[in-house]
Amino acid sequence: MADPLAGPDPLAGPDPLAGPDPLTGRDPLTERDPGYPAEQRDAVYRVIAERRDVRRGFRPDPVPADVLGRVLAAAHQAPSVGFSQPWDFIVITDRARRERIAALAARHRDEFAADLPRARGGAFAALKVSSILDTPVNIVVSCDRTRGGRHTLGRRTQPQTADFSSVLAVGNLWLAARAEGLGVGWVSFFDERELASELGLPAHLEVIAYLCVGYVSRFAPEPELATAGWARRRPVSWAVHTEEFGRRGMPGTEPVDPLAEVIAAIGPPDVGAMAAARERQDRMTKPRGSLGELEDVSVRLAGLAGCCPPPLPEPACVAVFAADHGVHAQGVSPWPREVTAQMVANFVAGGAVVNAFAAQAGAEVTVIDIGVAAELEPVPGLLPRKIAPGTADFTEGPAMTRDQAVAALTAGVEIARDLVAAGNRCLVTGDMGIANTTASAALICAFTGADPAEATGRGTGIDAVTYARKIEVVRRGLARHQPDPADPVGVIAAFGGFEHGALAGFILGAAALRVPVILDGVIAGAAALAAAALAPDAIAACFAGHRSAEPGHAVTLSYLGLRPLVDLGLRLGEGTGAVLALPLVQSAARALREVATFDSAGVSDKT
Ligand SMILES: Cc1cc2nc3c(=O)[nH]c(=O)nc-3n(C[C@H](O)[C@H](O)[C@H](O)COP(=O)(O)O)c2cc1C
Repeated sequence: MADPLAGPDPLAGPDPLAGPDPLTGRDPLTERDPGYPAEQRDAVYRVIAERRDVRRGFRPDPVPADVLGRVLAAAHQAPSVGFSQPWDFIVITDRARRERIAALAARHRDEFAADLPRARGGAFAALKVSSILDTPVNIVVSCDRTRGGRHTLGRRTQPQTADFSSVLAVGNLWLAARAEGLGVGWVSFFDERELASELGLPAHLEVIAYLCVGYVSRFAPEPELATAGWARRRPVSWAVHTEEFGRRGMPGTEPVDPLAEVIAAIGPPDVGAMAAARERQDRMTKPRGSLGELEDVSVRLAGLAGCCPPPLPEPACVAVFAADHGVHAQGVSPWPREVTAQMVANFVAGGAVVNAFAAQAGAEVTVIDIGVAAELEPVPGLLPRKIAPGTADFTEGPAMTRDQAVAALTAGVEIARDLVAAGNRCLVTGDMGIANTTASAALICAFTGADPAEATGRGTGIDAVTYARKIEVVRRGLARHQPDPADPVGVIAAFGGFEHGALAGFILGAAALRVPVILDGVIAGAAALAAAALAPDAIAACFAGHRSAEPGHAVTLSYLGLRPLVDLGLRLGEGTGAVLALPLVQSAARALREVATFDSAGVSDKT
């Protein structure tokens, strides 16, 4: 067989690129192709920008065969691996068949809905995810992963490129349909084999896409999921990296330093919105000041959002950052280090206290492996972001390098962004890391100047001897590193757990997006000190969920000027105290949004 990479085959006829173009006279060897004239180019970008996934507003008008033919021919011109053209298109119009298919999708939609946290479930119920019966034509795009035989160029090491090729056919179809005024809605609530059997697909064909196609009166300007508040578009500059992953920025601009960028984006609260919230609290049908602390919470939420009333902080997501600590070797905790990894498995399985509290509050739990000293199996709900398998012992040297501290901070920023882009309107901090109260105490001393005896607590519960040792370990660490609170990255690197760095980044990310973040106990508090040292205005986004039993936490809260919402003597961590405060923060916003005013309700004010 001829080597397909060796160049043009002499038997294949004249090279179409040799010599001047017969139409324009342009010589392709010396002149570059000019692209399309501006108007045609604009039309291409226009169809890309205005293509929408359409779920509602379909018209019953039939789609003429010639229009459908053009759209399918456009799909068939997609690029494909080794030019294997692995797609087939199954055009379905039969009502009875569509009813059976709609029933298959409805079952999986209901199963998905049952798995959602309560706040998300409400939003999902309002969404329409399939138009199988509202559209005159449904088109299934399949993939034959074997088409072209075993020597298909480019498919050997990446067999998934066959599926990618069929997806490109979907893209072409979607764009051509938009140009024809046809809406397309992609439905993926199927068990692939169930659907394949309904369609009589041979066993070696995969279903790639189920598309509902029909005329519409208008196309929405934005994705429906964005308009409905389910998810947001990520800025393109977050998606473009220069040379290496992580050096983000658009071509022609300097690569952005994500941390510097996020810090620059954090601003002070909006005093106008805060004044409006205070004024509204005074006009609400209740005695002035009678909501106590919650009035301040509502005012701070308004200041953060920059409007009054502020949006409801819902849905919410608890991010549990898990990592191990080298200082565990100093005997500061009665628990073996392996418990960190074991608890991660418990969070992911839904069996920890934070899962129970989050279920009660209608919040989602996401677990992040930011530095657990074990290989963790990839499972849904666990984000693999390991910086290293645990930190070093800070009594012997820095817990981590500066680069690792920056990496942890950046990971936290990105997780905050992703969770907000996924539709969350309130972030909640959680943590897991055996020995992390020791690292927290050191961080708190470094940032606030507190004495180790004042900032160190008994963590999960230790005897007097271990407690004395723990204080001494913190003191030794401080003496060794002589931390400079004006260098927050250096302080994190000296003592921090990876979860402290990531939580600090998480707080900065939330503050930059002006989304409230509810802090759990002493670990989140230590991270908030680092965040405040990097960007003092970040604290405007922070709400202290509770006061933990750890003495360092009280030191932290008074240093940051935050008042805890719940004070129940909790000392568990995981995010439990913060989740308990979630309904309080949500109620504060809801009251400001929904309670009538004296004038609107016709209730007499106190004279
Ligand atoms: C692979 C894939 C599967 C999808 N599955 C569904 C679905 O099951 N139901 C639905 O309503 N939309 C589905 N969509 C549509 C997306 O929600 C939609 O493309 C996205 O929100 C962006 O909106 P836009 O296409 O209008 O830009 C799917 C899209 C893709 C690419």
